[in-house]
Amino acid sequence: MRAVVVWGGCGTVGQRVRDAILEQDDMTVYGVVTRSAKESVLIPHAKGIRIFTTDAKEIPAFKELGIADIGTLDDLWRSRQQFDIIVDCTPEGEGAANVQRYYRPLGIPAILQGGEEHAAAEMSFNATVNFDDAKGKRVVRVVSCNTTGSLRVLHALDRAFGIRFASASIDRRGNDPHQSSKLPRGSISKPSLNSHHGPDIVTVMSHLSGRVKTKAKKSDKQEFHSHEWSVVLGRDVTREEALSVLRVAERVLLLSGRRQFEDDGKIRFWAKERFLRGDIYESIVWPEETVDIEDLEGRSVPRGPKVRFDMLVDQQCIVVPEIVDAIRAMLGMASREESILRTNRSLAIGTSRARDAPVTHGDYTVRASS
Ligand SMILES: NC(=O)c1ccc[n+]([C@@H]2O[C@H](COP(=O)([O-])OP(=O)(O)OC[C@H]3O[C@@H](n4cnc5c(N)ncnc54)[C@H](OP(=O)(O)O)[C@@H]3O)[C@@H](O)[C@H]2O)c1
Repeated sequence: MRAVVVWGGCGTVGQRVRDAILEQDDMTVYGVVTRSAKESVLIPHAKGIRIFTTDAKEIPAFKELGIADIGTLDDLWRSRQQFDIIVDCTPEGEGAANVQRYYRPLGIPAILQGGEEHAAAEMSFNATVNFDDAKGKRVVRVVSCNTTGSLRVLHALDRAFGIRFASASIDRRGNDPHQSSKLPRGSISKPSLNSHHGPDIVTVMSHLSGRVKTKAKKSDKQEFHSHEWSVVLGRDVTREEALSVLRVAERVLLLSGRRQFEDDGKIRFWAKERFLRGDIYESIVWPEETVDIEDLEGRSVPRGPKVRFDMLVDQQCIVVPEIVDAIRAMLGMASREESILRTNRSLAIGTSRARDAPVTHGDYTVRASS
């Protein structure tokens, strides 16, 4: 059993990472580090997890909340032998600063989030693409939600058909549901051409350098980022061939837009009935009917057969299984296949998620026994 500290562990990503780790039978949460005394610390406290604050001035407020044994960073460092790794889920920029301030000087392995630059870590990570490269690394960055979602699908298409060129238009959610300060229209931005997502994909799939182009804008939606992809493939394929690759791609969910899922609100409605927080960890290729093969002549991109599809990314949770796998990868706890399988099983990924029928997803998952 390896112990993990979740740093910045009471926000959107941190609380989900905490709960996912608690689902693993080879890991536990040693403690949660946060800054201020807020109601969000009460759940980890109730779960028996030790809370540490980075801000000593907040200690009286934590005690007022009923957390009498609130710890400081000095307390955390004194117990250094009790934990193996830190998962940093702090807001953009804080993680990179923590690497310099604490993790490197103290020799603690750490996982950063996609809000940090690629250069802040030794590598950028996706479990399916480059799990083995993380073994023994001290600082690893799990790429952002949109990059994670894209990598899963692009990697599957690339392995099956080869990718000559890929481009996407991404409509980003303006805020997470609880971020009232950005509501409702203050979060909207004009489209940015050549958004960072293309280069970010290349930090993991480096052979696609110069061959992925993305544009993005923010809208006032809160649930899901929406992608429209067009991918020029290395060889001719039929729509059925493309669909069959997507059907078995690791952590990819193919949902029809017919019947129940005619809009993304219905997908969330369904997920909330079935999963913790209504989280969907997979990349959601939806509506399935958008998967299509085009043989159009591109002007600035190579000619060839194109597969196009729409995709949703459940931004708040999609990186969580990758983080769990990154812990095993860095600490050498399991092979890629074993780790992905364990994570998927523990989080019910690729099991009975598509309606009630057990389905198989990916190379490493087994048919659900439910
Ligand atoms: N939100 C998403 O959908 C999403 C998806 C994928 C990746 N990410 C990435 O994940 C990271 C975290 O994002 P988030 O949305 O989860 O952030 P968030 O909801 O704002 O939560 C951040 C948490 O970190 C705490 N914190 C802030 N500064 C800290 C510090 N110096 N030391 C310890 N704790 C600190 C905050 O506590 P206080 O409340 O006291 O400040 C809060 O509990 C970012 O890099 C982001 O880009 C986010």
